[in-house]
Amino acid sequence: MTIHPDDLQAAEARLRRLHQRIGGTAYGGDYNPEQWPREVWHEDAKLMQQAGVNLVTLAVFSWSRLETSDGVFDFGWLDEVMDLMHGHGIGVDLATPDAVPPAWLVEQHPDIMPERADGSIFGFGSRQHFDVSHPVYRAKSLALAEMMGERYSSHPALRMWHIGNEYGPASYGPWAEKAFRAWLQRKYASLEELNEAWSTAVWGQLYSDWTQVRVPAQPRTWSNPSRRLDFHRFTSDSMLEHFKAERDVIRRHSPDLPILTNFMRFYKTNDYWAWAAEEDAAALDIYPDPREEDAHIAAALNFDLMRSLRHGQPWMVMEQATGAVSQWSVNVSKLPGKMRLGSYQAIAQGADSILFFQWRQAKGGTERYHSAMVNHAGPNTRIFREVCGLGQELKAIGDLTGTRSTAKVAIVFDWDCWWALELGNSPRSDLNYAQEVLRFYRPLFDANITVDFVNANSDLSGYTLVIMPASYLLTDAAASRFENYVAGGGRLVVSYLSGIVDQDNTIRLGGYPGALRNVLGAWSEEMHPLAGDGEQVKLSMPDGGTSSASYWTEHLHAETAEVLASYSSGRLAGSPAVTRNSFGRGTALYLSARVDDGLLNQFLDDELLAAGVEPELKAPTGVQVRRRTGANADGIAKSFLMVLNHNDAPSSVDVLDGGTDRISGRAVKGSVELPANGVLILDETAE
Ligand code: GLA
Repeated sequence: MTIHPDDLQAAEARLRRLHQRIGGTAYGGDYNPEQWPREVWHEDAKLMQQAGVNLVTLAVFSWSRLETSDGVFDFGWLDEVMDLMHGHGIGVDLATPDAVPPAWLVEQHPDIMPERADGSIFGFGSRQHFDVSHPVYRAKSLALAEMMGERYSSHPALRMWHIGNEYGPASYGPWAEKAFRAWLQRKYASLEELNEAWSTAVWGQLYSDWTQVRVPAQPRTWSNPSRRLDFHRFTSDSMLEHFKAERDVIRRHSPDLPILTNFMRFYKTNDYWAWAAEEDAAALDIYPDPREEDAHIAAALNFDLMRSLRHGQPWMVMEQATGAVSQWSVNVSKLPGKMRLGSYQAIAQGADSILFFQWRQAKGGTERYHSAMVNHAGPNTRIFREVCGLGQELKAIGDLTGTRSTAKVAIVFDWDCWWALELGNSPRSDLNYAQEVLRFYRPLFDANITVDFVNANSDLSGYTLVIMPASYLLTDAAASRFENYVAGGGRLVVSYLSGIVDQDNTIRLGGYPGALRNVLGAWSEEMHPLAGDGEQVKLSMPDGGTSSASYWTEHLHAETAEVLASYSSGRLAGSPAVTRNSFGRGTALYLSARVDDGLLNQFLDDELLAAGVEPELKAPTGVQVRRRTGANADGIAKSFLMVLNHNDAPSSVDVLDGGTDRISGRAVKGSVELPANGVLILDETAE
């Protein structure tokens, strides 16, 4: 996905202005004053000042408080809160509350409620309860956005706009069906074309009239994978269309302020490449589970994805928790120091905003146990002290905003692949795309190699190594882009289940992985997933080394490629498992099996070496190192080395060139010991 340079520049100017106006890193969170009496608002404003808060998100769930019945509006309370925030020097990120159509609207139009694939309809009482294709829902949410834009765009507290909240889920209702059909009519020139693309000759599914084309509701058994892929695409597009309509309404009132919505971790419903291209910044809601030892690595992947979605532009942590969340069966609180560490991790990976859900912990409602900046017990708590501590520290690193990271390695992450791969009726229906990507990301994270994510449309020219984990769906154009990348001198690493299907989700014939056969110089005649969790086969290398593979194998033939590992046991004994092909000026490595972690690391190390990729700094396991450089929001050239100790014990690193630690203010050079959860922000440009 490429974004027009003019759009990037305009967004950058808006972000620069935001950070200049709030004085550096954005710090704060969702604020829901409508849940509290007026006296609490005043206490809130004072506590926010104490915590160093400079940005709060208002009105995300306020539709029923702003439009109390059809056409009856009450903006008085919001005016008062906006004024109060301004009076205390706190900026506002104002949200359009389209995530929560009010009860009166749903009563008037019950078909606003989204429908599940099985035809059942969601009940009122939660949120995101709309079919985005419903014309009244659309008209009413746009009308409210218009009124908010008009009323608040020149309010002195206003700093940015937040459209909706975590768009989803899909609807299979009648309005979605109508819109799906129209979407298909725009995509396919004729019904014949659709029949061809969807392989409707299979199982006698031929359509003879457009009226027969329906949403892929719960079928008798399995249903058509090409149709379901198009429905995924439609769902993402239709929600994005609504986001854009609201954004355009707001943009007319606020041409200079950032406008965005919030994304989620590993969220499959919406193609975030397409979404991020329509926003001023990517913004992520991130809730790592403290029970998972490596939660920070999955978080890191999502952070790098956010940084990559808009070509390295600073992104925002839109929501995170100070302690526990309330959505799992056991909601463990973050240990002391982990909230601070996670916040700096996001900054190290390119975020310029640290925001929480939410400011004050609710006393009622669904999320009353979700922690906040001010918890039930009030401000005299460990959490509020940590919140204030971080707020104070962030003031000292405001000059970091606007700087960026650069990467020579890219990993392909593509929603078309994700959707197509997980539709079932495949040789392995338990394959999890995000986990496949994580398998390749993790060793690079451990080695402190900065990684960008790309999709099939990205410009690859800046990368010396590109990794394609299970890039299942490739269009002809994408396949030739990757081929040209290798021909021009790039190094490509491809894993199994790549290049198998075309844009219609139909198989490419003539041997797998069809789309990449040429560049890989190898082809598979049959897929052989291994049964059972523990099943393994042995591998042997030309130098006599041995290893193993599990989960997935293929009957591979090397054509022009060199064989790097072969099976030495099992039904494929003697056949190649891993190959490397020289193609033009570059090379393409094919891992047709899930080789064990040791061997994967070895191959990746060899590739990194050959691609001239160096770690940011050599550091012990569990110590993450990133660098942010370039012009900051004030146009001053900076370089910051950030070192984060994710270990629960002290760890040391060697910072040979040294600099000033911006947290302690001390000059640092040589060996430095970081305490457990410790952070070092080394200003390498300090005088
Ligand atoms: C999401 C939502 C928030 C809140 C948090 C915590 O990210 O956007 O409104 O519900 O989760 O669960």
